[in-house]
Amino acid sequence: MAIRFPIRAGLAAGALALAGAAAQAAEVNLYTHREPGLIKPILDQFTAETGIKVNVVFAASGLAERIQSEGERGPADLLLSVDVSTLTQAVALGITQPIVTPALAQAVPVPLRAADGSWVGVSMRARVIYASKDRVKDAALSYEDLADPRFKGRLCTRPGTHAYNTGLVAAAIAHMGADKAETWLKGLRANLAKKPAGGDRDVAKDIAAGTCDIGVANTYYYGLMQKDPNQKAWADAVRVILPKFKDGGTHVNISGLVLTKTAKNKAEALKLAEWLVGKRAQEAYSAKNFEYPVVSKVAVEPIIDGFGKLAIDSVPLDTIAKNRKAASELVEKVGYDLGPQS
Ligand SMILES: [Fe+2]
Repeated sequence: MAIRFPIRAGLAAGALALAGAAAQAAEVNLYTHREPGLIKPILDQFTAETGIKVNVVFAASGLAERIQSEGERGPADLLLSVDVSTLTQAVALGITQPIVTPALAQAVPVPLRAADGSWVGVSMRARVIYASKDRVKDAALSYEDLADPRFKGRLCTRPGTHAYNTGLVAAAIAHMGADKAETWLKGLRANLAKKPAGGDRDVAKDIAAGTCDIGVANTYYYGLMQKDPNQKAWADAVRVILPKFKDGGTHVNISGLVLTKTAKNKAEALKLAEWLVGKRAQEAYSAKNFEYPVVSKVAVEPIIDGFGKLAIDSVPLDTIAKNRKAASELVEKVGYDLGPQS
């Protein structure tokens, strides 16, 4: 009897210590190329609901390579990208494991997740035209129209090497073939008002300032600018046109996830993945981030819905990913980022 107490006390203390360790382990390490400000409110909501802390490492590029170089000891559980190519690149580097659960399979349609379970999309965006309300009167335009000489000296875009633009060029290659895509991209370069620089919001800013009349940008930035008092005037200067390829639809891409092969918090990582495609997160992506939900039950935000009905291009995301290298090489070959030349 004399020793029973200490043993039981010891067991209780041990159990508490284990519980403490379990509580401490309720975290997930997320590496992301997304702007932290865009996902923090959503991740905070996840933590508030589940008690699972999300440690975020942000970098503009290179995170798949970083995970590879960190190897076995690396902390990353998940990589959240801003395009599909980064996800397939991570898969090709051998740093991932399937991200598959019944809930993910049920929520996200196959074109927006890999059929083999290697990656899953959590939000969708379209790459569209921002046109000056005052100086561009066209009601509709195609991607091909951006190369029309009537826009000479009037086009602004961010650098061609950015993933958003290589994705678009990859789609152009799929539609036109490499030769015609090269002619098209040269046409865009010849139409540039200045050397490609900045981000998508700068396209609207430059149009508002009269530096250019037309540009290419992602849909959600328009909504974000509308809600920012310092940027609203930029958004107000532009009209968003959902362009199509002449033989296709509007180019879309995803923000999506891969699960690392070395994930030490796999259960928490899968919980976060499932939560991100759940109703509340999808509503937040739509209402706060102005993105298109990847699940059908959630409505598109009214400002974004106001652009018109999105007719998603027929080129699958895995083709976009496969053409990424050719697209990057084409951007280099035509000297797109060197700016206007003729
Ligand atoms: Fe973005």
